[in-house]
Order: sequence, then structure tokens, then C-alpha cells
Amino acid sequence: MNLTASTAWKAIEAHRQALAPVHLREMFARDPGRVSSLSLRFDGIYFDFSKQRIEPATLPLLTALAREARLDEWTARMFGGEKINASEGREVLHVALRRLSGPFPSSSFDVMPQVLATRQRMVAFAERLRSGQALGFTGQPIRSVVNIGIGGSDLGPKMVGCALRAISHPTLSVHYVSNLDGAQLAPLLQTLDPRTTMFLLASKTFTTQETMLNARTAREWLLSNLGDPAAIGKHFAALTAKPERAGEFGIAEEAIFPLWDWVGGRFSLWSAVGLALMIAIGPQAFADLLAGAERMDEHFCTAPYERNLPVIMALLGIWNTNFLGAHSLSVLPYNESLKYLPSFLQQLEMESNGKAVGRDGQTLACASNPIVWGELGNNGQHAFFQLLHQGGRLVPCDFIAAVRSDFPLPGHQEALLANCFAQSAALAFGKTADEARAELSRSMQGAELEELLPHKVFPGNQPSSTLLLSRLDPHNVGALVALYEHKVFVQGVIWGLNSFDQWGVELGKAVANSILPAIGDAGLADKLDRSTQELLSYSRQHLG
Ligand code: F6P
Repeated sequence: MNLTASTAWKAIEAHRQALAPVHLREMFARDPGRVSSLSLRFDGIYFDFSKQRIEPATLPLLTALAREARLDEWTARMFGGEKINASEGREVLHVALRRLSGPFPSSSFDVMPQVLATRQRMVAFAERLRSGQALGFTGQPIRSVVNIGIGGSDLGPKMVGCALRAISHPTLSVHYVSNLDGAQLAPLLQTLDPRTTMFLLASKTFTTQETMLNARTAREWLLSNLGDPAAIGKHFAALTAKPERAGEFGIAEEAIFPLWDWVGGRFSLWSAVGLALMIAIGPQAFADLLAGAERMDEHFCTAPYERNLPVIMALLGIWNTNFLGAHSLSVLPYNESLKYLPSFLQQLEMESNGKAVGRDGQTLACASNPIVWGELGNNGQHAFFQLLHQGGRLVPCDFIAAVRSDFPLPGHQEALLANCFAQSAALAFGKTADEARAELSRSMQGAELEELLPHKVFPGNQPSSTLLLSRLDPHNVGALVALYEHKVFVQGVIWGLNSFDQWGVELGKAVANSILPAIGDAGLADKLDRSTQELLSYSRQHLG
């Protein structure tokens, strides 16, 4: 479909023009029922989007766009196991990974037997580690687990592991290593005992440079300490779609946990890639996480668009990006345990929909994914929120909080929530010149007041949504992640792009491969650009 020429698009654009002069203050003043019209509840999630710059009448216009983009058909195609990831010729079946039973057909076969069998093996493996029955090469129980992976093979389990750290195993420690920079792995290894450490090599392709280099370093560390190649079998497991490569690395067959081509890296948390997480929180909590995600899948597939959380969230993003002109989305969690959520969502959203070419190979007629960024909200308040309040830029925000604290200290949670709610209110409603003048006039007047006045005005009208979870439990966290996954899917369908490939990450990898040999050998730098040559030359002088 020609999105920007569609009837639905044009109707939204006309509506936007009519709505443009109306400030959020006025929208709230005009309509006392606004919050109930512009909020949704589902299981343990309350989603308040009343501070978005829309009116209830905007919703049917936006949902018409989703219909015009044939969202229903695309959803049926994804859940029906069609190869909707056309540029890679793959199905997109991460949703099957949350199921408790089958069947779940791919284009050619039922994927559930292999999903359930792998999950069962993961449970057995996790339970042996958690109960202290899994012994290392010297007969001592495994006490530390290190997940080596990057991108989707790191961010999902790390983010959820942190979100659910209140229920982590009390004595097993679980670590995540992703970076090529030895400053991550080296200090960690100093704290670990090779006799009691298990490495999980998480890599769908089992070729990713970062993961393979960290894995080889870990293997050398283990061998230099335990002195026998047979030790690898007791201290390494692999989570991969390329079991043969893991076998070549020396990993025992029974320690290789498969995933499949039809699971995208950034959607792989629910697969074997979640093994470190399952070890940390336990198989039952992992099952609850899957159940929360599956509930969101059901909701997404069955709720009418007007009451459908992922659909509404996606459409709000389209409204902000394509009709209000926002270039970014700020993700602001108000829970320390959600500190990795912004990074996780950066990959999920920007690797999926950060594309300017549509499924048909044509350049998109409109902007696609905004830049996703963010930080723990409370810390951000004392750092970059100044720009959100008075920087003159449109920056839509997602405020996310769990109401109940897992680490209660007297007065902390109340103050935290008050700050979260205060920021979205201050961003929406601002402070007018009259209000600022009235405040200032209590302590000053005349020229002094007028000089300070412009600095005390807050324009407001900054759109935001607030997502409240009743608490950070596995069910709610599973639902939250699935919510964002489906939001991304809906936006990809509307923008007309393939959310499930990531060709844009390849060029940098190839260039890095051509530069690497030239770091040690100046003679190989000739064919590189002048800037890179100089960077290499400077580096050669300073490399230890
Ligand atoms: O380079 C990007 C990427 O391919 C991501 O899509 C993926 O999550 C990450 O690298 C890690 O890939 P792998 O699991 O194959 O090591």
C-alpha cells in the first residue's frame, strides 16, 4: 500500500492539523473522562496514555491506519508460521517459544516438539546447577555461571535477570560478558574460580567476533588453570543454532542447546538463550515469564485494536514520529532493576525498524523508527531532564515503573513513584508565564522579575505514556517484553518494512575484518582510507 497516500493517513494528517494548537492542559481541562478513555489495563499492567497529544477521537483514525496496512493479515501470517522474514527466507516464530504445548506450525512442520524438548533439557540443566549437583572437572559444584554473548544473546537474559534479581538463586552467581574490551572479562575472571565456573556460549551463529574471542579467552583461562582439555566438557555449554560449530569448539553434545533460524536474536530470550536467566531465577519463574508473554500474545491476537496494548502503543509511536515529527523516544524506567531496559529496547526497536527501505525494496515515504534512548528515570532527572523540560525539542517518553518494591526501604518507593508521576505531569502541563510570574512576585518584582521570568517558564505539552506494573514479577516482566515486541511488529507492518532482518549491521563487521590485520602490519593499511590509516598509525604507537 502507498502508506502516506492512503485515506487513513490523510485523515490522520487532517486531524493533526486541527489538533495542533491544543495544549495538553486544554485537552485535560476539556474532557474530564480523558484518563479513562485513554488508558488500558491488562493483567498486572496499567497503561496510561492520556498524556499523549491525542484525543479519544484520534484513536479510530489511528486504528484505521492499522487496518489499512492489513495488520490482521500480517499477524495471522506471523502466528501461522509463514516466512514473513522474506529477505532471510525465514519464519518468525518466537511466539511459539512461550507456548506450553503444541502444535505450532511453521511453514513446513510443527516446531513445538523441538521447543518443548529443548526447554525440558534446559530445566534439567538449570536444576542440576541450582541444586549443586552439577560438578566441575575437579568434582566441585558449579557456583558461577558466565553467559558470553552479545546483542540479542546478551541483552534479553541480562535485562530480565536484573529485573528479577529479587528472586535470583541466593548463592549461584550469574554474570554476562559481551564486550570485546578485555576490561569486562579480565577483572571478572580474577574473581572466579575455574573449578566452579560454567561458561554458557550464547551465539545463534556461533561466529560473532566478540563472543568467539571472549569464548576462546575463557577456554584458555580454564585450560591454563585446570590443565586438561577434557575439562571443557564440564565447564562449557553452548546456546546456538549452529551445533556443529559448538562441537568444533569442544563442547559436549549434551551441553549444546539449540535454537533455530526462525528465532531472531533480539527475540531469543525465550529460547535456549534464556538459559542463564533460567539458572538464575529457576525453571518455575522462567515458566511464569513465558506465561506472561503468552498472555500478551493472546491479548494482541484477540483484543480489538482500540483496547489492544501493543497496537495502541505502536500507533502512538507512529503518531508522534510521523505526524508530530518526533525524532526520538526516551525510555525512562523508575526501577533500578530495569536499568538494562533502555539498552534492550534500543536493540529491539532500532535493529528491527531502523530501516529506510521497505519490504518492496523501495525507499520509505516516511520516517520509520525514532532513536530510542533512555536511562533510569530518577537519575536522568538530575542529568538530562532539563532538555526534556525546556530544550524546545519534542521528545516523547515512556515512563515505566513497578508499583511494589522488591527492596523496600521506608519512604523510598513512595518518593520514587511521586517523582515518576511528577515528571510526566510537569512535562505535560508545564508552567505558564502567568504562573511563573505569580510565584516569582512573592520574592521579587519589576525588572528583576521580568529578567528571570523567561527562565522559569515550562512550555509543557511534552507527550508521554506511563506503564505501571503492579510489581516486577516474572509474569509481568514477560508481558512487558512481549508488549514491546508486538509494538515493534505492528510498527514494522505499518511502515511496510521487514522488522526481522538486520542487514545494516553487516558492513561494519566486514570493514572491521579488513582493518584488523592492518593494526599489526602497516604494510596492509595502504588500501584503507586516509583517516583510518592515521588512526591505525596512532594506535600502533600506543598499543602495548
Ligand atoms: O550483529 C548483530 C547481531 O547479529 C544481532 O542481531 C544479534 O543479536 C547479535 O549480533 C549476536 O549474534 P549471535 O547470537 O549470532 O552471536
